[in-house]
Order: sequence, then structure tokens, then C-alpha cells
Amino acid sequence: MHAPLAKKQGAGHPRPGTQDLATALPLLCGATIKSLVRCRLGGCDRGMDYQNSQIAKIYDHANSRARDTDFYLSLAGVRPCSVLDLGCGTGLLCCALAERGHRVTGVDPAAAMLAVARRKPHAEQVEWVESSAQSYRARRRFDLIVMTGHAFQILLTDADALAVFETMRGHLKEGGRVAFETRNPRVDWAGEWAGRVRTLPGGQVLETLEITGEDGEFISFQTSYRLSHGTLTTSSTLRFSPREHVAALIARAGLVVREVFGEWDAGRFDPARSREIIFIAELAG
Ligand SMILES: C[S@@+](CC[C@H](N)C(=O)[O-])C[C@H]1O[C@@H](n2cnc3c(N)ncnc32)[C@H](O)[C@@H]1O
Repeated sequence: MHAPLAKKQGAGHPRPGTQDLATALPLLCGATIKSLVRCRLGGCDRGMDYQNSQIAKIYDHANSRARDTDFYLSLAGVRPCSVLDLGCGTGLLCCALAERGHRVTGVDPAAAMLAVARRKPHAEQVEWVESSAQSYRARRRFDLIVMTGHAFQILLTDADALAVFETMRGHLKEGGRVAFETRNPRVDWAGEWAGRVRTLPGGQVLETLEITGEDGEFISFQTSYRLSHGTLTTSSTLRFSPREHVAALIARAGLVVREVFGEWDAGRFDPARSREIIFIAELAG
């Protein structure tokens, strides 16, 4: 997940409908709502509560399109191919891929996120599947399998990460590629995110972040959205694994790392300076 939503902040073009957040959130009109929504995604996933329809409706306002989308679009290339997007969320990338003629399957366990995705232009060209990445199974094989928006960091245990890599390996064509990113743990993310306040595009929602815990590779935080008639609060924990550890899990799943980038312009990963660790992997052997 985008944790503190930094990834898409302030870059690229805002997603459609950004101006009309009040209309998008009718549930919050006329009543004071102070809700503490907690993760109900099951298992060890403790990301933001993407099953909550209000969180899902805010998501695109807090995460406008940015350079990561262009990176994944360029990986898919210009010739139509088959793409599996695990943790597709509100479907920004899926719909952009479909618009370019690719055959796309978007998988996400949160029905509320998929409901937002299904309303986007080109959504009718995408196959939407409500499932976790760990348990997704299909007979088809794909040319490209991605997991974007730091969704990988929602996987808090090695067992969950391995299960996702096994899904990837089992659905990859010969010669196909897997791509996903995780944040470089060498960056002081908690320091950057602590106390962050920003007004979301449209000016109607104030987002605040509070770090609630740091424990080894894990950072927990609370995100609050103040709307005109109430405040919505959600708690999250993300894992920040080092490159070597993720690479070892990839190898255990029968994949091999081909490239590791540290920037969305495909700059090489530099442990001391890069913010992202972007893995490109293929079938081993
Ligand atoms: C930060 S959002 C990223 C969405 C999208 N990939 C993007 O870049 O905007 C994280 C998404 O991961 C989904 N998710 C959570 N646990 C998951 C799991 N075990 N398997 C697949 N997706 C999961 C959430 O429902 C949410 O839609």
C-alpha cells in the first residue's frame, strides 16, 4: 500500500473526479462520524482498511497518477500482452493498460476498491477478480505480473510474501516478467511521515498522519481524513524488508531477479540513496 500515500503525491496528473469529493462521500453528510476502522483483510495483512467504502472512495483523491504508473506501462510495452495486476486497488494501472490494448486481469481482496475500479473508463475491458494475491488461482499464464503501489509492504510475514511469489511463478509465461516495488528501509520513512498534514486535491479533505509504532522492519501509523462532517481514521502497519531478504524469498519461490532499480526512471538501485527497490524477476532456469 502507499502507506502515507507519499508515492503518488504531488506528481503526475490528478485522477478524474478529484474536485468532487463531497459528492463521492455522501455517507459523511449530515452526521458527525468518528470512526476507527481497522483492517479486516484477514490473515496478516494489516494495511489500511480497503474494505471500507469511504476509504476506497478517498483513495484516488489521495493517490493521483505518478511516475510509477508510467514505469509499469512502459514495462508492458506497446505490443498487446497479458498482464496480471495483484493488489490492483481502484484499477488505475489496469484501466490504463486496457486503454493501450493489453489484456488485463486485476486482482484485489477488497470489494470496495474493485467497486471504484469498475466505474473507471476502460474498466469493462478488464477482468476483475476479488481475491488475495496469495490465493489467486487461474489456468491462464501472463506475460507480465505486477504488484504496485507498495502493496507488497502490506505482506507482513515471509509466509505471505512467499505465497505471493508462488502465485506469481505459477501464473507466469516462459519469458514473462514479474515486477513490483518496496520502499528502501534505509530511508527514514517514520521521520518523513510523522505529523504530516496535507489537504487532498479538491480542498475538502485534510489528511493527517501519526506514527503509532516502530518495531524493527515494521512501521505502524494512523491516517485520519477530516471531512466537513466528520473524521475517518484508519490504522496500518507496513513491512520494510531489505533488498537481500526479498531477493532470497524470490529465489525460494523459483524466480530469479534480473534487475533491481532504485528510481522510477529505471536508475540503478543504490542502497544508500534510492527510495524504492524495484524488482524485475523471471522464471528460474
Ligand atoms: C496501496 S493499495 C495499491 C493499489 C494499486 N496497486 C495502486 O497502485 O494504486 C494496496 C492494495 O492492496 C490490496 N491488498 C491488501 N492485501 C492484499 C493481498 N493479500 N493480496 C492482494 N492485494 C492485497 C488492498 O486491498 C489495496 O487495494
